Amino acid sequence: MTAFQSHPIHAALLGPVAIPGDKSISHRALILGALSVGETTVTNLLASDDVLRTAAALREMGAAIERHGNGVWTIQGCGVGGLRAPSAVLDLGNSGTGARLLMGVAATHPFVTFLSGDASLSRRPMGRVMTPLEKFGASFVSRDGQLPCAIVGAAQPLPIEHEMTVASAQVKSAILLAGLNAPGETTVVERAATRDHTERMLRAFGAQVSVVQETDYTRITLSGEPELVACTVTVPADPSSAAFFVVAATLIEGSDIEIEGVSMNPRRAGLFDVLRDMGADITVTRLAEINGEPVADLRVRAAALHGVDVAPERAPSMIDEYPILAVAAAAAQGKTVMRGLDELRVKESDRLSAIAQGLAACGVRVDESPDGLIVHGCGGAIPGGGRIVTHHDHRIAMAFAVLGMAARSPVTIDDDTMIGTSFPDFMPLAQRLGATLVPLSQ
Ligand code: S3P
Repeated sequence: MTAFQSHPIHAALLGPVAIPGDKSISHRALILGALSVGETTVTNLLASDDVLRTAAALREMGAAIERHGNGVWTIQGCGVGGLRAPSAVLDLGNSGTGARLLMGVAATHPFVTFLSGDASLSRRPMGRVMTPLEKFGASFVSRDGQLPCAIVGAAQPLPIEHEMTVASAQVKSAILLAGLNAPGETTVVERAATRDHTERMLRAFGAQVSVVQETDYTRITLSGEPELVACTVTVPADPSSAAFFVVAATLIEGSDIEIEGVSMNPRRAGLFDVLRDMGADITVTRLAEINGEPVADLRVRAAALHGVDVAPERAPSMIDEYPILAVAAAAAQGKTVMRGLDELRVKESDRLSAIAQGLAACGVRVDESPDGLIVHGCGGAIPGGGRIVTHHDHRIAMAFAVLGMAARSPVTIDDDTMIGTSFPDFMPLAQRLGATLVPLSQ
């Protein structure tokens, strides 16, 4: 664990910024590659700790996964239902996505799988995936629905219909992945539209997935036991990682950056819309579709922001972006109201409280409620000068590193280790753009 200081930047951020591959899509490419027949090639896979854990777990279950140069990976799949019982405990580290999606996969394989994670992941709720997966015929042994756990996979899985009780793409995806190895149709009914990378990628691998939009809910139906066919996946740049540099460029005077090939999936791009509502100067060009996913280039120029009321319905499309949105709100003129965010209390940390404490430590007025925050913007440079407790949360660390770049006084961040779970190159990339990030000796 190394603490570091992020110092105010006095020069504009300029030029192209290369953002690594999307974390959600990277996990799914490895998993579907492992469940298909033939060799899948993935380019621009995110080689972060979270994704490497998923790769290691799938290798343990029999998939041959190889890393070549330049972000290219190949996966020799085992086919739907063809994974083998892992002899070791699958340790998913900090990764909620890896853990929950693999619980789905394991739930309909007829063997016992043991799963563990780090201290943060072991505090997160897993009952939300265990309950629907039990309907397939799987059973779980755990304490209080948390990791570590044992999964006894169903020997004769039954397809299920499940109405979501939380807005969670991880839960939805776990059910669909379990449904792959069950005969008949598995249906998920979703009221809040969460990221749909699993549905899109299942189709790209040849599965039949129907999505029916009713007035106030969506029915997603997967036909079970398909033969998934290996394919080539190109992973777009991660909008959740791009978000840190989009906000940094917006806040630092004179900045003008470009980011190529960012996922513009409408269920991920909510932050960009909210920032535009606040006055940000973000232009989207070269919109295209790759593997069924929309991607585009972004150009971001510095702009003065004003506070807004962020509608709770927007939360699923920017659920990981509230820490960095709060930093933008801290620099804006007027107040920004964020509501409907109870899910933020069960992320890698209790993010509502980590954001509120961090902003207060940096001289920003903030009101915290059970499911939201009101940030009273400084209307320009943020005082800074605080010490941030990241609670082992990568996004808290990066968001406050950006705050330090746009503040009047340096911000101290207690721990840089978790940044590697999603964005291992964050520090060198920020430094190349002119950030001064100084490690502090213990
Ligand atoms: C993810 C879904 C979201 C998000 C997480 C990645 C995914 O979690 O916060 O970082 O890849 O499906 P929830 O499903 O818990 O909302």
